[in-house]
Amino acid sequence: MTTTEISSLLQEHRRFDPPGPFAARAHVKSEAEYRAMAARAEADPDAFWAEQARALAWSHPWTKVCDWDPPDARWFVGGKLNVAVNCLDRHLGGARANQAAILFEGEPGDVRVLTYRMLHREVCRFANALLSLGVRAGDFVAIYLPMVPEAAIAMLACARIGAPHTVVFGGFSAEALADRLKDSRARVVITADGGWRRGQVVPLKASVDRALGMPDVDSVQHVVVVRRTNNEISMRPGRDHFWDDLVAAASPVHEARGHDSEHPLFSLYTSGTTGKPKGILHTTGGYLVGAAYTTRMVFDLRDGDVFWCTADIGWVTGHSYVVYGPLASGATILMYEGAPNQPGPDRFWEMVARWGVTILYTAPTAIRAFMRWGDEWPAKHDLSSLRLLGSVGEPINPEAWMWYRKVIGGDRCPIVDTWWQTETGSIMISPLPGATSTKPGSATRPLPGIAADVVRKDGTPCGPDEGGFLVVRRPWPSMLRTIFGDHERYVKTYFSEIAGCYFAGDGARKDADGYFWIMGRVDDVINVSGHRLSTMEVESALVSHPKVAEAAVVGRPDDLKGQAIVAFVTPRSGAAAGDALAAELRAHVAEQIGALARPEEIRFAEALPKTRSGKIMRRLLREVASGAQTRGDTTTLEDQAVLEKLAQSFATDE
Ligand code: WT7
Repeated sequence: MTTTEISSLLQEHRRFDPPGPFAARAHVKSEAEYRAMAARAEADPDAFWAEQARALAWSHPWTKVCDWDPPDARWFVGGKLNVAVNCLDRHLGGARANQAAILFEGEPGDVRVLTYRMLHREVCRFANALLSLGVRAGDFVAIYLPMVPEAAIAMLACARIGAPHTVVFGGFSAEALADRLKDSRARVVITADGGWRRGQVVPLKASVDRALGMPDVDSVQHVVVVRRTNNEISMRPGRDHFWDDLVAAASPVHEARGHDSEHPLFSLYTSGTTGKPKGILHTTGGYLVGAAYTTRMVFDLRDGDVFWCTADIGWVTGHSYVVYGPLASGATILMYEGAPNQPGPDRFWEMVARWGVTILYTAPTAIRAFMRWGDEWPAKHDLSSLRLLGSVGEPINPEAWMWYRKVIGGDRCPIVDTWWQTETGSIMISPLPGATSTKPGSATRPLPGIAADVVRKDGTPCGPDEGGFLVVRRPWPSMLRTIFGDHERYVKTYFSEIAGCYFAGDGARKDADGYFWIMGRVDDVINVSGHRLSTMEVESALVSHPKVAEAAVVGRPDDLKGQAIVAFVTPRSGAAAGDALAAELRAHVAEQIGALARPEEIRFAEALPKTRSGKIMRRLLREVASGAQTRGDTTTLEDQAVLEKLAQSFATDE
């Protein structure tokens, strides 16, 4: 990059006002309306959140909106509601009953449509099936499925009977599944014979069998198997049941009862700074209020929308914006099982045109891949049904933002760049598409009700354009309640770094207009293609290999993936460093965690650079790893330098 190119990135002056016709019909129509709403929320947060909560159906009213005993929050205290009733039963009274809830398309091209009434029946049946297996309120159920309607049905059935689910992404290995089963003590695993990915079968049931054979995986009593790919699988009598058989015997009638607002709804494992993924715990009332409020506001949902969030249900985006937020809002969602380039690079665009998608929500890494594949692919299809575009998971570089706007959105659709996390449960910082002027690369401002800020290590607010730590000053309904089984880690990770605030782990700056620019993680978490991984997790996987003495893992900027994993490895004496060992180690990491953690590059070193106290000097390794390639435009040089400094101050105070 030339100096002029760099300075143009630092000075992003392009601004896009909400298109007039869009704003005219939007829920929030202008900057003034946004400001009034944010001011109302600021002046009386409880009244504001109570108003949002009243959009849901409660079977018993709450007595207190928020009980905040830092860092512990309880929301809508004493209230009772059923998440599945809010997503389904509530929509059956009128015309919505026969509206499509789920439009499903498998990778091979098979299609299923479930109306709200049909989805309701399937969820009731499966809820009864779970009860017949002895599952009771409070029992954890693990879900390890491809993106098929049964995934949403299983989640909603669990929610209906009050059995918290823990969804494990189908791309995770048997080892990773076993860790999550051990930690959650799940009693049931719901899986499939396989799922389709790039024309191949992902053998999920075989992974479940392996996981259940591992030491200390002893809580699982039943396995439910969806027939999807018809590949050969083994079924253990008494333990394993086919989904079809269970639901055939189950009644489609299930009277739901309300669960306490603070009853656990789900846990979802995500990477932190240590090797052990943490089970982020979300509860019923607050989570659903957050998911529903943000879906309505950020995506400006209206009748007739076809909402396509391309995330897998294995991630929080799939929980909040494939299942809970849209269904609580009575929307029609599109669900797709497979890869974006199967059979060709225009699979998404062909589907947008064929299904008449109006709102598309995807990740920057996908947008960058589409850019690379070329404009001719979207150009082949009529994308005029689209009215709004969303981005999530990592910072979006201004060039990708511009391409998304022009080539996919026809210069007509607003873009919402949404910042949030597994921990926040729902979107925190984002434009409101009818109200906020956008700047390419900025997630703009916090949603009304969200007290996000950028601060220094001592908690004082940063000045304009001063890089600092992204925090949230006040509790919000969909915040995590704890790390499952490790409340101390919850307190330490999120509420000890910056006094009195929730600390997100991200670096950010606010510009003179108060717009947020997220710079990336300041801890040892890396973001590869929008997937969160801890460097320690990958290191543990590497050192579990008999030929590895020591390993250090860092992220380096990558044009396509955002960050790529580089591993520095010292082999044990006698083991020969070289391509063969590198290949063996990459395969080993994929087996230990999943293909998404496979290092892009392995460099062998006789020794790793360490401080006198024996700490690996990651900063140095990051520089070495990044220096080897030309820097992409994914982050500006200034951002890199600031982030580096923040990361240092974060590490030294640990
Ligand atoms: C981390 C959270 C929440 C959805 C999927 C990821 C990064 C997320 C953005 C954005 C810049 C973003 C942050 C955050 N991130 N959205 N719009 N701009 N960075 O959830 O796996 O919990 O990861 O993703 O670094 O901390 P997650």
